[in-house]
Amino acid sequence: MKYRHSFHSGNFADVHKHVTLLQLLTALKKKDKGFLYLDTHAGRGSYDLSSPSLEATEGIGRFASLEPSAPELRQYAALLAQFRARHGQRHLYPGSPLIAASELRPQDRAVLIEFLGAEANALEASLGSLAQAREDAPRSVRVERGDGFTRLRAWLPPPERRGLTFIDPPYEQTEQDFGHVTAALAEGLRRFPTGVFAAWYPIKDARRTAIWQAACARTLQAPALVCELWLYPRDSQVGLNGSGLLIANPPYLTLERLQAWLPELKSALGVGPSGGASARMLSQSS
Ligand SMILES: C[S@@+](CC[C@H](N)C(=O)[O-])C[C@H]1O[C@@H](n2cnc3c(N)ncnc32)[C@H](O)[C@@H]1O
Repeated sequence: MKYRHSFHSGNFADVHKHVTLLQLLTALKKKDKGFLYLDTHAGRGSYDLSSPSLEATEGIGRFASLEPSAPELRQYAALLAQFRARHGQRHLYPGSPLIAASELRPQDRAVLIEFLGAEANALEASLGSLAQAREDAPRSVRVERGDGFTRLRAWLPPPERRGLTFIDPPYEQTEQDFGHVTAALAEGLRRFPTGVFAAWYPIKDARRTAIWQAACARTLQAPALVCELWLYPRDSQVGLNGSGLLIANPPYLTLERLQAWLPELKSALGVGPSGGASARMLSQSS
């Protein structure tokens, strides 16, 4: 496996993915009862952007230079500033497990799965510094080394009967990962029909994306929506044209809130006329 998220961290897709993740965590926290956050492809958690790539400069670099107005974007900007202040490093970028660990309450739990030993070790180190800086840390945050697609089965359904499963594979082998994601969503929903599931996917080929979405709409036994941001025409040959998240069992008002902040994120990232953004229901119910 050659993929290292460090080369891409902080790019437009990460910002899109992480604002959406924060919105979902916030929605789950509206109830007092604790929940499980299950991250099947966690990464190292914290990324040093002191020598940022062009991708990061055009992603989080652009975002951080503006004052957003939508509450979700403001909340993400505040989380970023607090994360950097806690660690005393203004170029750090928090990945999905560190965003979750910053947000979870004492009654919540996290299971963070990462395949690569070096990335998992780095994740444990970042979580250790965060726990020292937080008095109200979640009671249980566990890093597991292994295959997230397989281990998902072991953790669902959680005893809390509330949970968010975040699926973010590298898509090094794009076709294979799309298949694994569809299977993981279907299996996850079978085991835990009321759980919230969010899966990130790349938009590289518009036709391929549409076929995959149609398969998900047919297969998944739950209401689902898709939230997408693209910088280039959706079928251009540049590589990564856009970023998408499929959310199954979206919490109340998720779609409306996504539709409220996506246009602002799109303009904050300087997306030109060939780009776009949209959030829509994919399927209404089982
Ligand atoms: C796109 S990155 C994850 C980024 C992270 N979710 C975030 O938002 O900060 C994908 C990660 O999955 C890891 N990975 C690859 N295959 C895996 C597998 N089968 N199970 C678990 N982790 C895997 C990679 O090492 C990499 O760290």
